[in-house]
Amino acid sequence: MKNITSYVQDNKQRFIDELIELLKIPSISADSAYKNDTIKTADAVAKSLTKAGCDVVEICETDGYPIIYAHKIIDKNLPTVLVYGHYDVQPPDPLDLWTSPPFEPVIKETKLHPEGAIFARGACDDKGQMYMHVKALEYMTKHGELPCNVKFMIEGEEEVGSVNLGKFVKQNQEKLANDVILISDTGMIAKDVPSITTGLRGLSYVEVEVTGPNRDLHSGLYGGAVANPINVLAKMIASLHDENNHITIPGFYDNVEELSQDERAQMAKAPFSLESYKEALDIDAVYGEKGYTTNERNSIRPTLDVNGIWGGYTGEGAKTVIASKAYAKISMRLVPNQDWENITTLFKNHFESIAPKGVTVKVTPHHGGQGYVTPIDSIGYQAASKAYEQTFGKTPIPQRSGGSIPIVSLFEQELKSKTILMGFGLDSDAIHSPNEHFGIWNYLKGIETIPYFYKYFTELS
Ligand code: BES
Ligand code: MN
Ligand code: MN
Repeated sequence: MKNITSYVQDNKQRFIDELIELLKIPSISADSAYKNDTIKTADAVAKSLTKAGCDVVEICETDGYPIIYAHKIIDKNLPTVLVYGHYDVQPPDPLDLWTSPPFEPVIKETKLHPEGAIFARGACDDKGQMYMHVKALEYMTKHGELPCNVKFMIEGEEEVGSVNLGKFVKQNQEKLANDVILISDTGMIAKDVPSITTGLRGLSYVEVEVTGPNRDLHSGLYGGAVANPINVLAKMIASLHDENNHITIPGFYDNVEELSQDERAQMAKAPFSLESYKEALDIDAVYGEKGYTTNERNSIRPTLDVNGIWGGYTGEGAKTVIASKAYAKISMRLVPNQDWENITTLFKNHFESIAPKGVTVKVTPHHGGQGYVTPIDSIGYQAASKAYEQTFGKTPIPQRSGGSIPIVSLFEQELKSKTILMGFGLDSDAIHSPNEHFGIWNYLKGIETIPYFYKYFTELS
């Protein structure tokens, strides 16, 4: 692997240009208006894998967006790494908050990225991080340094729940057989503090609808005399947390695994500044469940949050009206052992039970998935750890993340292998937000580190 550092330096501009081309295509899986672009992105990813040296590249049709499957098998007796990533992106709105258009990538300097960062939707989540693997493979095949077999599975529906990928994995266990799954779709603590993500939270996402009177009413003629669905919804939502910010749904915490004092002490060793955290978000205080630190609240503890709420009149000026209906979208982040389908049922039963007379409540589940934790004594983790040591000169810190990649627990269930999450993004990269970006330093560091994972994984296997 002597040449990887110089290879990255020598090809830096091309690596950036190629990623920029990929970022120009708006592959927004949630919005059917972008169907052709999303398919076009799948084709571009497939082409890049052929160019990088895969022997087999397939565009696998599904009921939704295609899954790209590719491989290079050098010897059936050697281990196989399965790389997963996604080529779809989140919708870019609100558009007016972007400092440059989301699908016209530009390089700008930021405080944390003095070398420049690529600003575009998907730069970090996940096109940039996925493409690091394509370029790492290009290096290994070109230099005869691919030490084991590799398979790629890149999907286009991660941001909308990976429903068709779930089916694909169940139907293709043989094809996808592997010794370890490698994903770059998470983050690290800081550029000088490498970390490996050892946990992801699960998710249950629901939509609620509260219906009162059969039509919108004059808020003077009827106000005070009938249940106002928006008032009622606000009250119901407020009741879902108690004064300690504990979630009040009966049974919600039943299977939550409590970490030992020792594990919590280990976690607290990770470098973290509450002051910088608050400053980065322009808030004067943090908020959350009593008895837990900020890093615990956003990783080892389950949560319930409203993601959107609407109803009644929201246009210009004032309109006096009591709406017939009110709505909210609610997500619950779950920790390992909480079953997302069970939690969805608990939510539904509870939410219906607290509805006062005078309204009806409907709860519609959207999607969900289980949480995930991975041990740090596996060969995969050890290989990743050594890879970071090689390129960062430091041992990475294991860290559980608050985000979700629901398909990971299904991988373990169906393919019986562990997933290693080598993320190179930073929290400040603004994934899912306006002005998403990915540091060029992080992008190149990822390309440089990944080949070492293959090397050490093969050596340790
Ligand atoms: N890549 C993210 C998840 C992520 C980001 C995990 C950073 C850890 C650190 C992924 O694309 C994502 O956004 N997942 C969704 C869930 C999905 C079902 C829409 C999420 O976490 O909200
Ligand atoms: Mn992602
Ligand atoms: Mn995402």
